[in-house]
Amino acid sequence: MIKIVIIGYMGSGKTTIAKLLSKKVPMEVFDLDKIIEERTNLSVKDIFETKGEIYFRKLEHQFFSELISNNESMILSLGGGAPCYANNHLLLNGDNVVSIYLKASIDTLYERLAMVEPDRPLLNDLNQKEMKEFIAKHLFDRSFYYNQATHKVVVDGKDTEEIVAEIVQLLA
Ligand code: S3P
Repeated sequence: MIKIVIIGYMGSGKTTIAKLLSKKVPMEVFDLDKIIEERTNLSVKDIFETKGEIYFRKLEHQFFSELISNNESMILSLGGGAPCYANNHLLLNGDNVVSIYLKASIDTLYERLAMVEPDRPLLNDLNQKEMKEFIAKHLFDRSFYYNQATHKVVVDGKDTEEIVAEIVQLLA
């Protein structure tokens, strides 16, 4: 049994890379945010708005702990904040766990996040200048947790195929 856990900041490509990786490594793929949404019947945005971030972090920890301790092999992509709360980072190097940090620069993240529909509760109220400052500071705060990953893969300037190929090599 092995768990491949994909982590990284919002916009680093976790969900996309996890899905593509599941085509090369024949394992089922799960997305923690999606699981939270399915189990609560609420969108992440609605949970933040109606119940608050702390409630969301508790659910995130509960479902992550459950998934990481079951007996199934899987590829699991986490929300950007998941490794940074409730000691979740301690689970990134457990027995049978291989975690991969998709490391993107502030510029890459800003370019991607400024372009997408505003469905990320932590970024929704920011104008473009504020967003860049927020990403820079937030990424700095979170890097300690992301750097606990078993492997780091720099994603700047690479296409998805290259990134997946690098991960496959790391797993070999
Ligand atoms: C969050 C990232 C989001 C989602 C929630 C909080 C974060 O997931 O879990 O909005 O704290 O960085 P993505 O990283 O998939 O956008």
